[in-house]
Amino acid sequence: MRITIIQGSPREQANTDKVARFLEEQLGQNKAVTATQFLDIRSFNFPNWGMGEVSKEDLALFQSGLIDADGLLFVIPEYNGRVPGAFKNTLDYFRSEYKKKPMAIATVSAGSFGGVNALYDFRDWAHYVEGILSPTKLLVSKVGNLFNEQGVPVEEHFNLNYPKFLDDFIWLTEKIAK
Ligand SMILES: Cc1cc2nc3c(=O)[nH]c(=O)nc-3n(C[C@H](O)[C@H](O)[C@H](O)COP(=O)(O)O)c2cc1C
Repeated sequence: MRITIIQGSPREQANTDKVARFLEEQLGQNKAVTATQFLDIRSFNFPNWGMGEVSKEDLALFQSGLIDADGLLFVIPEYNGRVPGAFKNTLDYFRSEYKKKPMAIATVSAGSFGGVNALYDFRDWAHYVEGILSPTKLLVSKVGNLFNEQGVPVEEHFNLNYPKFLDDFIWLTEKIAK
């Protein structure tokens, strides 16, 4: 089973990137996962739709990351109560690629609420594009305190919740891929 991880923060120092890389590493250790691909929206830097020239190679690369995956794991921060505009803009370059695709969503925030507003925003979008959402979400709060200097997560709730989040996503993806 192939999983593509989409990192949705546009910030150079994105904390979301650390969470996304950690989850990719964990997925890579699961026997059911044969390959992972990491799509970081910062590496693509698509212009606002219709307002600039977009690289055909970048479009093709992002598109194949969506199409080739059996499941899509989105890891995104909350910006002003929604998903970041740059993330939504990146997604807007594609449409049919999302249809009937298993998806999981992890949201990230510096504060206590784990990006729950971005989660609801994303769920609306996923429903609209006819994706199939995993039943289990992952809210990552106080991300600044999550990792120790060795990059190991030290927050109790995160360590309790992320294995089930990934297990349920893999369960769903396997069901659909069959
Ligand atoms: C433009 C902007 C808006 C933000 N809005 C929110 C917000 O609505 N709620 C929240 O909990 N954190 C908010 N944050 C803080 C992010 O949660 C914080 O930067 C965190 O590290 C995750 O984002 P990152 O991956 O870009 O670092 C905001 C940050 C930025 C740059």
